[in-house]
Amino acid sequence: MKFFIDTANLNDIVEAEALGVLDGVTTNPSLMAKEGITGAANILNHYKKICDLVEGDVSAEVIATEYDGMIQQGEELAALHPQIVVKLPMIADGVKACKYFSDKGIKTNMTLIFSAGQALLAAKAGATYVSPFLGRLDDISTDGLNLISEMRLIYDNYGFKSQILAASVRNTMHVINCAKLGSDVMTGPLSSITGLLKHPLTDSGLAQFLEDYKKGN
Ligand code: E4P
Repeated sequence: MKFFIDTANLNDIVEAEALGVLDGVTTNPSLMAKEGITGAANILNHYKKICDLVEGDVSAEVIATEYDGMIQQGEELAALHPQIVVKLPMIADGVKACKYFSDKGIKTNMTLIFSAGQALLAAKAGATYVSPFLGRLDDISTDGLNLISEMRLIYDNYGFKSQILAASVRNTMHVINCAKLGSDVMTGPLSSITGLLKHPLTDSGLAQFLEDYKKGN
């Protein structure tokens, strides 16, 4: 399973990259605003900075909600850097724009996926990545992981090439469960990646090894 970090925070991206397990980055307008990155020029420049920090795919979201605007913004984003993936919302014009970009060989990420039907449409439009929002489904007492299972079944039934990008991942259990269910990618905050490191028996075992080494030297 690929690990993407879901942030626009450059320090978090550097820390995840340094761990050696990072495969890409996802962002969204809210994450950009959280870092105080506003205005089209600053946002485009920030995407370039992110691409310079990592080797993998970097999802950059269009703001337009109608087809022509999505095409214009998506082309501008894709021209920024070869690592850019054009992120499009799951609405009718987003599906049409996804087909346009996939026909042109430009990578896409269909975002705000909350049902198996939406996931099926995104795959048929040729999306590179399809992003079900686990945490937001869990927030409204709906089993987000069930959507991952449904998507895996549907994509495998027909050999769709779209990758399931489990998004809105909030914790380490989300990551582990996504891996068990065969999600191709997960994207979450730095804590969802570094949290996987932790186990008290690792810490106590290492402390014991070091103590015993000192006794023999
Ligand atoms: C996905 O691409 C989104 O950026 C993100 O995962 C949303 O997560 P949230 O529900 O924690 O805001």
